[in-house]
Amino acid sequence: MCEYCGCQSLATIDELTREHDAVVDLIAGVESAYAAQDVVRMAQTAREIAAVLAPHTEVEEHGLFPVMAEEFPDHIAALEEEHRRIESVLGEAAGRTPADPAWPGRLMTVLAMLRDHILKEQDGVFPAALASLSTEEWEAVEMVRSRVGTLLPAAATERN
Ligand SMILES: [Fe+2]
Repeated sequence: MCEYCGCQSLATIDELTREHDAVVDLIAGVESAYAAQDVVRMAQTAREIAAVLAPHTEVEEHGLFPVMAEEFPDHIAALEEEHRRIESVLGEAAGRTPADPAWPGRLMTVLAMLRDHILKEQDGVFPAALASLSTEEWEAVEMVRSRVGTLLPAAATERN
């Protein structure tokens, strides 16, 4: 990966975007499980979403967001607050299918918010980051990524 042409920043954002795409696909799976009243499958898919989001959120919150928060503190604080709400409802399915009959509805509400959240990042934070981060800052974001990895199989072969 060369340092000066901007390809590092594009690769970093591309990986975050592909994780978003994977999550959006999984959300569709939760919706079909919800329509079929299959709470077990909803919980399984919620765990898959949580697994994709774990490294993704680390890269955002410990790589990208600290730099962006200098310019947009309120916006970034709101996105981080949404991360906590999403994690909390997904976390209810950690290791088991939640017994609370209100959980499926709660999950659907928070996943609708997650879809919206993804659009806010892709239409707001990511373009702003591409326009403003320095090479050193992108390298710092990539350091976080190398520490946490990704669940994307295609990304694993691209990273060398
Ligand atoms: Fe994200």
